Amino acid sequence: MKRITYAVIPVAGFGTRMLPLSKSVPKELLPLGNRPAIHYVVEEAIAAGIKHIVLVGHAQKSAIENYFDINAELDNQLRNKGKNELADSLNWLPKDVTISMIRQGKSLGLGHAVLAARPIIGQHDFAVLLPDVVIDPFKTDINRDNLAFMLAEFEQNGHSQILVEEVADEDVSKFGIAKLSDAIDYTKNKHVNASFKVAGFVEKPDLADAPSRLAVVGRYVFNNVIFDYLTNTKPSVDGEIQLTDAIDALINQHGVNVTTMLGDSYDAGDIQSYMQAFIYFAQQQLVINE
Ligand code: G1P
Repeated sequence: MKRITYAVIPVAGFGTRMLPLSKSVPKELLPLGNRPAIHYVVEEAIAAGIKHIVLVGHAQKSAIENYFDINAELDNQLRNKGKNELADSLNWLPKDVTISMIRQGKSLGLGHAVLAARPIIGQHDFAVLLPDVVIDPFKTDINRDNLAFMLAEFEQNGHSQILVEEVADEDVSKFGIAKLSDAIDYTKNKHVNASFKVAGFVEKPDLADAPSRLAVVGRYVFNNVIFDYLTNTKPSVDGEIQLTDAIDALINQHGVNVTTMLGDSYDAGDIQSYMQAFIYFAQQQLVINE
């Protein structure tokens, strides 16, 4: 199977859980320590071997595209003042990585946003990274290259991959929750990713209806055929075209595995956990710079 080099990052959400911060600044550009949150997500994708990143956004999100572009005027000004190192640090994106933006049009849900990337993705298999979820980039004592693992699994067995992590009872209703086929003991080894077949997903269930505590984290690797399923997916929970519904349909015809996450994830799309994440990232960077 060919290496996956395409990824979609949906950035069209209004960030209502982050108001007033997100009123005029895209929530993806809010800082975690000294960088915008989406910087870490793009770094994670690149580290896993992604070369083409498609941002799915809308008119108020063009600042994200600008963040990843070269600002020639600023670059010239910095270099004229002899600040070459600073100028170089802004152009960190590897030369073989492209970032493009396409618009979603109407906000009809996550599934609809992913489908909007189809004209750029074409026939390729691809990854999806949700920018609200930032995986701790600092801890180096554990392997946290979850996306790289999922891509390697897909290349080996052709099964689409969904990253999951165990959440507390009170958080179950915030996520897509996995239905496991057998009584799988996924807790056996906390130092390696476990990957196994999944029976389905329920989007944001009440605790009483939750089939497990394994929540969809926001990293996916898809066979291109997911686009066909998304085309046929009708609005459901919250009146939105849900990616989880298309995955459920995909499971019936193709193999889909869940991969258990290593490392810690931070929700940068919710004000409470965003503030905790900010403090953690800032502390880590202050230690690094001491
Ligand atoms: C989306 C997905 C959900 C997943 C979550 C992860 O929900 O629909 O399945 O668990 O992201 O952050 P959202 O947070 O966009 O409502």
